[in-house]
Amino acid sequence: MEMILIFLSLIIQQVFTQYDYTQNGDPAEFSNYMNSANDLYNELFTKRIYHKNLSPVYGKIPANGTRSPVKAMNVDLVLYYFRLLTLDAESQILSASVEIIMSWRDPRLAWNNTIFGEIDRIFLTSDIIWTPDNQIGNSKSMTSVHPDGLAPLTVYSNGTVVYPLIWYAEVGCNINVNRFPFDQQQLYLSILSFAYKTDLMTMTGKTKLDKNRLMGNGEWNIVDIDTASFVNDDADVLAFRVHIKRVPHYYVYVIALPCFILTTLSIIGMFWTPNFKKEQLVKLSIGLTSLVSMTVLLDMLSTSIPKTNVFPLLGIYVVTCVGITSIASIAVVISLNIENYTIDHAKSVVYLGKIFDDTLPTSKKDRRK
Ligand SMILES: *[C@@H]1O[C@H](CO)[C@@H](O)[C@H](O)[C@H]1NC(C)=O
Ligand SMILES: *[C@@H]1O[C@H](CO)[C@@H](O)[C@H](O)[C@H]1NC(C)=O
Ligand SMILES: *[C@@H]1O[C@H](CO)[C@@H](O)[C@H](O)[C@H]1NC(C)=O
Repeated sequence: MEMILIFLSLIIQQVFTQYDYTQNGDPAEFSNYMNSANDLYNELFTKRIYHKNLSPVYGKIPANGTRSPVKAMNVDLVLYYFRLLTLDAESQILSASVEIIMSWRDPRLAWNNTIFGEIDRIFLTSDIIWTPDNQIGNSKSMTSVHPDGLAPLTVYSNGTVVYPLIWYAEVGCNINVNRFPFDQQQLYLSILSFAYKTDLMTMTGKTKLDKNRLMGNGEWNIVDIDTASFVNDDADVLAFRVHIKRVPHYYVYVIALPCFILTTLSIIGMFWTPNFKKEQLVKLSIGLTSLVSMTVLLDMLSTSIPKTNVFPLLGIYVVTCVGITSIASIAVVISLNIENYTIDHAKSVVYLGKIFDDTLPTSKKDRRK
């Protein structure tokens, strides 16, 4: 009786799910494929009663995990595309467009392809199957390019699910500006699962990038990206380490070069003139004007570096230039005073000379003029 019912239900299912697509002019090949795919879909999601909220992660793995007949789930990550959009050095945030292809095996989604018309893979959306929660752990915000849950994914007959994740991610990072603007930075995209510890879920990862899918912005060049995996607080962490190098042209041409020119010009203006002792106030104003101009450069500099305890190379350079110009200005002021002093001194000598007539040496008389 039971057998007959099952048989009947199968027949009914066959009759109602088969549709002849050739009536619409499509090839018989497509008609067969679509009907097999339909059967497969019913098999996976209706007959097997697939619950997408139920995780296929095997929860009975003993604490030490060695003797279990079921292996921990492995999530494989491939970094496929990386584009650095901005690196905000002041707030130490990297924003990037990232594509990571994530794959894992869900045994509930495996089928025998000889039964289902040699179909090796089907294409689904991520809202109907379970997906791991692996995410970029150190991100400030992550925006998926696809609307929630509608990312396309591929399921293979051996149960492997391939899920390309395309994110716009903002990631916190430590920036060391010691050698700014000739600096190189190491940024980490650390991916981990928040729900499953390392005995339940492991991660493997690699990068698969070529020059076209690895982009910096104008200021940063990407040197390379490699992977490192480690266990942190019982969770498997997979870190993609992005090694970037700054293109220093902007800072050299816009800050360092003008600073050099200003310093050189002001030093020449202040000291390299034949009438050294004359027009001291004009010379002082040259020095002060360059100092004011340099504060503009300092301001530009300060907006592009984080306010940490290390002082960058370029900062030291600009401050040195400011220092040189300041010392030069001070020297001008002092020489001004010395000259006044000399004149006063000469005057007093003249006054004394009036008293002790003709006791002055001739050289001092000349000096008065
Ligand atoms: C590890 O597993 C083995 C086999 O299941 C068991 O005999 C052993 O006591 C376990 N060790 C610990 C530290 O849990
Ligand atoms: C798949 O199904 C075919 C036909 O029923 C059977 O011969 C084959 O052994 C099955 N393959 C596996 C791996 O079970
Ligand atoms: C499943 O099949 C796909 C496609 O043929 C293959 O790339 C993948 O390695 C297979 N996975 C396993 C666990 O056999």
